[in-house]
This record gives sequence, C-alpha cells and structure tokens, in this order.
Amino acid sequence: MRIIVAKNYEELSTKAAHLIAGQLIMNPETRLGLATGATPIGTYKVLVKMYNDGLIDFKKIVSFNLDEYYGIDSENAQSYYYFMNKNLFEKVNIDKNNINIPNGMCEDIEKECNDYEAKIRGKGGIDLQLLGIGRNGHIGFNEPDLKFEAMTHLVDLDDDTIDANSRFFDSIDEVPKKAISMGIKTIMHSKKIVLIASGIDKADTVYDMIFGPINPNLPASALQLHKDVTVILDEDAARKI
Ligand code: GLP
Repeated sequence: MRIIVAKNYEELSTKAAHLIAGQLIMNPETRLGLATGATPIGTYKVLVKMYNDGLIDFKKIVSFNLDEYYGIDSENAQSYYYFMNKNLFEKVNIDKNNINIPNGMCEDIEKECNDYEAKIRGKGGIDLQLLGIGRNGHIGFNEPDLKFEAMTHLVDLDDDTIDANSRFFDSIDEVPKKAISMGIKTIMHSKKIVLIASGIDKADTVYDMIFGPINPNLPASALQLHKDVTVILDEDAARKI
C-alpha cells in the first residue's frame, strides 16, 4: 500500500483527482470504478474543473459504480444514480450508455448481480477503482462478515451503516436496509485502487485497515493483499498511523 497524507480535505481531493486524471490521460478508454458518500464529492469537483479546463475527457470512459441502495429508483434523490449525476456525470461529457450502476429496482436480484459482473468482465475489468471507507471498515457496501463476500451481491446493511448514512435522509427510518454492492473479489480484480478517507471518525478504521489483521470483520483489510493500492488520507484520518 502506498500511503499519502494530505494536509486537509481539499488537498486530499486534489491528489485523488490527479491520480484519476493521470489514468484518464494515459488511457482515454479507461474503465473507471466510482464511489459515493461524502468523501469523493471534492474529488469529483476537481475532476469537473479539470474537464472544464480542457485537461481531461470522459467521452470514451466507461464507469462502474460500486453500489446502489436496493428498493430505490434512479430518479430518487437518495439514489446513488442521482448522486453520481449531480456530482459528476451531468457535468462532464461521459456517454450515458457507458454509465453502469446496479439497478436498485431490479426484479431478479441474482440476475442483476450476475449481469453486473458480466458487464465488468465484458469490458475487460476495472482499470482504476475509487473507494471510500465506512466507519465500520466497509468498502462499497461490503459489511463486516465472517467471510469476504466474493462477487456483486445483495447486502443487509449494518445498523452502524444505516446510522452513518441517515445524515443524507430526513429520518433514519427512510434509510434503505439493503443494497446491491460489488463484492470484495470484484473490487480486488481492479488493476489499481485509490482509497480516500477524511476526518477523525475514520482514524481507527484506517489504522486497522493498514496495520490490523486481514479479517472480513474489517472488509477493507483485504486491500493489504492487493498489489496496487494508494490510500490518500487527510491529517485527521491519518492521526493513528
Ligand atoms: C457508503 C458507501 C461507501 C462509502 C461510505 C463512506 O456507505 N456505500 O462506498 O465509502 O458510505 O461514506 P462517507 O464518505 O460519506 O464517509
């Protein structure tokens, strides 16, 4: 793991965006894995600015999002589809046909998950996957478990995740209890991984991810086994390392 400590959230966002931009310039047909949550918003802002400045182009980029709430349609303002449109897709020239996000309203979950995996493989796999990390060490929506969940699957969200994500909803009762997420194996297949974490809330989790045992109880610890992971932290998230 390569660990970069940025002074603050702005610097973290710039560094993450620059790594992604470098990848897009190197390969304009990059298969880009994207994340949601509050942490990547700054990264997306910098990417949009770089696009507006003519430095990067999304025309041939194929995107795959990590996850989506189950039971929420793409028009819903709480959906990750909506989040991605608002923060990135509607601000750059990505081809709508190249955007891939699990369908939270699918009727056949198994088929949706298998099709999502097949789409990723069919495009040749993910070149660079951006990740955040949950307070409980989840990546995507891979919650602490007894085993590393392999492929895209339906997840029962942990109480801690429901609590953490309730800040985006009017009340905690509105937070979906399930989600569709890429699995740990799907994520580990990515050629490069960039994980970003900000704030003191994440400091213990980040320490355990990097130095703790590799254990599905902290899903992000699997990243210790990946050959090309860059972790970008602000000083608060790096406080314990
Ligand atoms: C959600 C997402 C994760 C994200 C995590 C942390 O649960 N499924 O992909 O990493 O939240 O979010 P935040 O960046 O808001 O702390």
